[in-house]
Amino acid sequence: MDKLSPIGIFDSGYGGLTVFKEIKKLLPQYDYIYLGDNARVPYGTRSFDAVYQFTKECVFKLFDLGCNLVILACNTASAKALRSIQQNDLPPGKKVLGVIRPTTESINKYTSSQNIGILATQGTVISESYPIEIAKFHPNIQVFQQACPFWVPLVENNEIESEGAQYFIEKDIMELLSKSPTIDTIVLACTHYPILLPIINTFIPEGITVLSQGKLVAESLIDYLKRHIEVEEKCSKNGTLAFYTTDNPTDFQEKARIFFGKEIIAKHIKV
Ligand code: DGL
Repeated sequence: MDKLSPIGIFDSGYGGLTVFKEIKKLLPQYDYIYLGDNARVPYGTRSFDAVYQFTKECVFKLFDLGCNLVILACNTASAKALRSIQQNDLPPGKKVLGVIRPTTESINKYTSSQNIGILATQGTVISESYPIEIAKFHPNIQVFQQACPFWVPLVENNEIESEGAQYFIEKDIMELLSKSPTIDTIVLACTHYPILLPIINTFIPEGITVLSQGKLVAESLIDYLKRHIEVEEKCSKNGTLAFYTTDNPTDFQEKARIFFGKEIIAKHIKV
C-alpha cells in the first residue's frame, strides 16, 4: 500500500491561512502542511507565466514533502495556474484543487437579485475566471468585478489599521457598487481579504452579504474526499500541522497568529 500523506495547502503568503483555519476546523483529523511563498508575494500583479511558474514550484515542493493532495488556497494561483498544472504537470497519483470552483458552484444560495460583486486581485479579475465559472453553474447570475491591487500589500505589510487601508478599501468597494445598484452579495475572492473584514464591513450598505471563502472551500473538500475514496484513503490522520514559508519564519509565526488564530511554529523552506 502507498505511504499515507498529509494534505498540502498553498498560498502566495498568509492569505491561505484564512482557508486553512476553516479546513482544520471541519476536518481536524488529517495531517496538513502549509506553504506560504511570502518571499515572492504578491502574485496578484504578476504575469500568467510568473504565477504558473511560482505556483508549480511550490506545489512540487509540497509533493516532495510527501503530499499527494494539494489545495491552492489562493485565487490568483487557482485562476492562473491550476488548469495548466492539472493538464500538463501532475505526476501519477498526485492531485491539485483550487478555491474558485468551490466558491462559484454554491453562489446561487446567497443572491436573490442575481447580481454578484467580486473583489479580487488584478490577476484574478483579468483572468475572468469568476464570470466564466459562475456562468457555467448559474447562467442567470450577473457578475461585476473590482480589482483591489493595494489590499494584499496592506495585509502583508501589517498596514491594516492605517488610514491608507481605510481609503483604498472604501474606494474599491464604492467603485464595485457603482457598477450595479442591485448587487446583494459580495465575494471576497482573495484569501487575504477576510482579515480586512472589520474595515470592509464599515463600508458595506445594509442588505448586502459579504462572503469569505474559507467555509465554502472546507465544505467542498469534505464532499471531494467523500466522492474520492481512493484519495481519502491515502491521507494520514494524526491531526498534525506543519508550516513552511519561503521568507522569514519568525515574521511568519507572528502574522500567522492573526490569520490562523493560534500560535504556530514555522520553518523556512527554499523552493
Ligand atoms: N491570497 C491570494 C489570492 O487569493 C492573492 C495574493 C497575492 O496577490 O499574492 O488571490
